[in-house]
Amino acid sequence: MKRVFIIVLDSLGIGEEPDAPLFGDKDCNTLQRISGSDKFRFDSMKRMGVGNIDGQDYLPSEKKPLAAVARLQERSMGKDTTIGHWEIAGVVSPAPLPTYPDGFPDEVIKEFEAATGRGVLCNKPYSGTVVINDYGEEHIKTGKLIVYTSADSVFQIAAHEDVVPLEQLYEYCRTARKILRGKHAVGRVIARPFITVDGKFVRTANRRDFSLLPPAETLLDALQKDGKTVYAVGKINDIFAGQGVTKHVITHGNTEGMKVALDALDLDFEGLCFVNLVDFDMLYGHRQDVDGYAAAFSEFDFWLPSFTAKMKEDDVLIITADHGCDPGDSHTDHSREYVPMIMYGKNINPVNLGTRRGFCDIAATAAEYLDSTYRGDGVSFLSDVIKPTKTEKELCKSAYEAMKNSYAPYSGFNVGAALMCKNGKVYTGCNTENAAFGPSVCAERTAVFKATSEGEREFTMLAVCGGKGGVIKGLCPPCGVCRQVLREFCPDDFPVLIMKSKTTFIKKTLGELLPLSFKPDNIK
Ligand code: THU
Repeated sequence: MKRVFIIVLDSLGIGEEPDAPLFGDKDCNTLQRISGSDKFRFDSMKRMGVGNIDGQDYLPSEKKPLAAVARLQERSMGKDTTIGHWEIAGVVSPAPLPTYPDGFPDEVIKEFEAATGRGVLCNKPYSGTVVINDYGEEHIKTGKLIVYTSADSVFQIAAHEDVVPLEQLYEYCRTARKILRGKHAVGRVIARPFITVDGKFVRTANRRDFSLLPPAETLLDALQKDGKTVYAVGKINDIFAGQGVTKHVITHGNTEGMKVALDALDLDFEGLCFVNLVDFDMLYGHRQDVDGYAAAFSEFDFWLPSFTAKMKEDDVLIITADHGCDPGDSHTDHSREYVPMIMYGKNINPVNLGTRRGFCDIAATAAEYLDSTYRGDGVSFLSDVIKPTKTEKELCKSAYEAMKNSYAPYSGFNVGAALMCKNGKVYTGCNTENAAFGPSVCAERTAVFKATSEGEREFTMLAVCGGKGGVIKGLCPPCGVCRQVLREFCPDDFPVLIMKSKTTFIKKTLGELLPLSFKPDNIK
């Protein structure tokens, strides 16, 4: 049963992206910043190979890392939680979510006032605790709603629970959510209820977030459609407005989030467990607390082996982040940074993938691993990291052996193929050339025709390799004619192993190799 665990260390960036100056974030590096603290512990993450990731030269590297690693650059034009998580889940946002440093425009406020029948107070960026002090009395007297924003893309409504009943406040938020569309599609509308305690205004735990729905199909949606579990832990359910989530737990801080993630390993499910650890960002990044951030990182570093030790054969863990929030830079806001991608599992080779463009490669990779119908953004790197199965290894070996029989005196290029039948039998083939050139036949077709002439019709996998003098050289993807011959018998998801060496390959489906193809169905 295949399971993918994605753990987002909220705001753990690993260095400025090339366009960071555009975001006011030159020279930021969250991980580097906290690595200077006495509270910084770097044991498990070192073993994983975090020090080997591009640009992390200030950290000790690892000779024999345990995980596949990469540095990921954000394709979306933003540096907020919502956009970062959407991209991890496969949706790239070309424009940032709107922010309102001067308050919301008249058109928005007027429409909101008309729809709620209440006036609006404040309408500026404001601290949440100060805003209720400054406007609370007037709100009680007039019944007007306190509307305020922040550096984030948020429309926040504060109201006293005795003046506006909770359900009513939530309804006003839903109203705002409907108004805030198009160019005013803010990331979140937030209900901020408060009460009076000992003559003072204090906020209650009845805060509620109304997030923007992801603008396109995410990995979560696809997995849900595929009938798999999507288990959201922490803020994840909120960030996706519950869309694509089949089960969720809200947590209060990193420690609880890690516990819930660990417990999730004991649950029986196939699919995704998507965890967000928010303290890094909320408690330490925004508050410029370098030591606090380092201590939280160390807690995670200490916890990590307890998680990996419990992982089952087919479990895959991906650790990443959604943006940066350098606690030692010049501002309290997020920072435009690369994020780490650390992929660990018994099936995963510890390859260094360098720098890749798009957090969404995580979605594509997780989707491929989980055999999902996901078709969103991102390029899967699964074939670069996945360890071959026993069957795949054996099939590659057969193809390699077959290559030795290649008769190719004219091109000097030897090709071997091995075709696996549903009943487990393997038919091999090599290319056989001819002095008249035209009658030459490829290795793959030879394998197919050998099989069909023995009565076989159902095939499950093909391996192919090519090279010179018995040595594999580069890739030998099946030619167009061979693809068309395979198409006659094999479905879209039929796997083709295009070998890079005796034991490594990239895996493509026939659907990828021959999209929109002519097949038996077309002439029915
Ligand atoms: N070849 C194959 O056997 N399979 C392919 O899919 C591509 C090409 C052979 C045909 C020829 O003998 C040699 O490679 C050079 O084109």
